Amino acid sequence: MADFKVQRCTDVSRAAELHAFAQNIFGALDIDPPSSVLKETVADFAARFRSDTIFVAQANEGLIASIFCTPQDDALYIGRLAVRPDWRRRGVAGALIEAAKDEARRRGAKRITLGARIALAANVALFRRHGFVVVGKTCHPGFTTPTSYDMELVLA
Ligand SMILES: CC(C)(COP(=O)(O)OP(=O)(O)OC[C@H]1O[C@@H](n2cnc3c(N)ncnc32)[C@H](O)[C@@H]1OP(=O)(O)O)[C@@H](O)C(=O)NCCC(=O)NCCS
Repeated sequence: MADFKVQRCTDVSRAAELHAFAQNIFGALDIDPPSSVLKETVADFAARFRSDTIFVAQANEGLIASIFCTPQDDALYIGRLAVRPDWRRRGVAGALIEAAKDEARRRGAKRITLGARIALAANVALFRRHGFVVVGKTCHPGFTTPTSYDMELVLA
């Protein structure tokens, strides 16, 4: 069993670390258009400590993954899910998604929502495996065909 811990992160002094982590991971993705995360600044990440619930996965060597949970009306939107490449396929993302589900229930949210790039089929499959279904399609500005699936999980 992989040795990592999922923790809520409320320490805004970690904004620069989380920002650099996300920039590295989303910057490495071969997607068009590039992830909007790449336009975000450290200040944007710091602001998310006020608006979002942030979970991180920590191993002995430090930060290995993160997820940002944003309350939106009756839903909790999850984004910026990122796992360090050498820690993938060990259930780290799954553990963070479970933390987000617990958080959504704790808040009384009715749904968890997310956007998944259609081009990243393995990601879409991962979210399906965790109970999410496609409820819509979105075109990024300047694109004439859909680039992203709107996915959601209705909570019991
Ligand atoms: C997408 C991403 C977050 C997945 O992270 P991950 O930690 O590898 O995800 P998990 O380990 O929970 O699941 C991945 C796969 O490993 C499998 N797995 C989980 N635990 C496992 C284990 N102990 N041994 C072997 N395989 C395992 C899962 O079944 C899953 O299989 P699937 O792809 O067939 O569904 C990661 O690849 C990433 O950071 N990608 C770049 C950023 C990104 O695209 N983020 C998503 C934005 S929407």
